[in-house]
Amino acid sequence: MSDTIFVTGASGKLGRGVIEHLLASQSIAPSRIIAGTRHPETLADLSARGVAVRKADFDDQQGLAEAFAGADTVLVISTDALDGAGTRLRQHRAAIAAARDAGAKRIAYTSLPDPAASKVTFAPDHLKSEEAVKATGLPHLIFRNSWYQENLFHSLPNALKGGQWYTSAGQGGTAFVARDDIAAAIAAALANPPAASTTYTLTGTQAYTNDEVAALVREVTGKPLQVVHLTDEQLAGGIKAAGLPEAIIPTLVSFDTAARAGNLAAVTGDVETLSKRKSKPLKAFLEENKAALAG
Ligand SMILES: NC(=O)c1ccc[n+]([C@@H]2O[C@H](COP(=O)([O-])OP(=O)(O)OC[C@H]3O[C@@H](n4cnc5c(N)ncnc54)[C@H](OP(=O)(O)O)[C@@H]3O)[C@@H](O)[C@H]2O)c1
Repeated sequence: MSDTIFVTGASGKLGRGVIEHLLASQSIAPSRIIAGTRHPETLADLSARGVAVRKADFDDQQGLAEAFAGADTVLVISTDALDGAGTRLRQHRAAIAAARDAGAKRIAYTSLPDPAASKVTFAPDHLKSEEAVKATGLPHLIFRNSWYQENLFHSLPNALKGGQWYTSAGQGGTAFVARDDIAAAIAAALANPPAASTTYTLTGTQAYTNDEVAALVREVTGKPLQVVHLTDEQLAGGIKAAGLPEAIIPTLVSFDTAARAGNLAAVTGDVETLSKRKSKPLKAFLEENKAALAG
């Protein structure tokens, strides 16, 4: 197969990872890869390696039409627009429509686990984006990505400082997965797409409750860490008292609500099946990042 593969969000961590795996793990020729980003100037190293770098901003419909020209497979990486005002869904719909109109033969999209049932505030955006992909009628790949292990950097360093980790996730588990394992799996699927349109759920090999994560953290860092179980309302109050912007609080709390509801606990073998390698266990991630997590 010599189709071109366009990766949007190429200067983001996942987009960059997918491109590196296309090149290294999948041995895709650089001339078959197109990296789309709002900031082409940041990807000069990829250009130097023979990857075409194009400006692709989901807020610029005309620019997208030019960007996607000649792209056979387009991976639309979900954006980080969490303003709650519909921006993200509008952006995704614009990208999907532009890829279709530019003549893409296959569209891929990064979603989240079980978007129809998920309590995460922005799950409906993902569900509707998936629907937009399906409505193109084109062959498609949906990657429902579980929570990155790297997300723990948002909570654990602070929790370890105070020795207490506040959560309303209860005994709900999360199947944390290394971002690089997701990138490897996506690159493999893009390089060798299945005959039929497929929805993957890319997860770690085990779901962990926050109590179980804390036990691993104590073991790895040797530091005390007590999990303090709260209601969603108490958690929201604590986040507010910590001074975080009011607008983001419902979304942050919804991550715990979703975990409690089991929305993030699904475990599949898709990552290892696609990437043909062992994925990183949570304990290994914690050990690798012990210094950064423990401060
Ligand atoms: N599963 C999880 O745990 C998890 C955690 C965090 C985020 N996510 C989601 O997964 C995506 C990739 O994760 P990441 O770690 O790579 O995040 P990241 O490094 O923060 O990257 C943000 C991404 O959003 C893209 N973006 C923002 N505005 C855009 C626009 N107007 N047009 C086109 N692209 C735009 C960026 O592309 P450029 O800067 O190259 O234009 C970049 O790829 C995130 O954007 C988010 O939707 C998932």
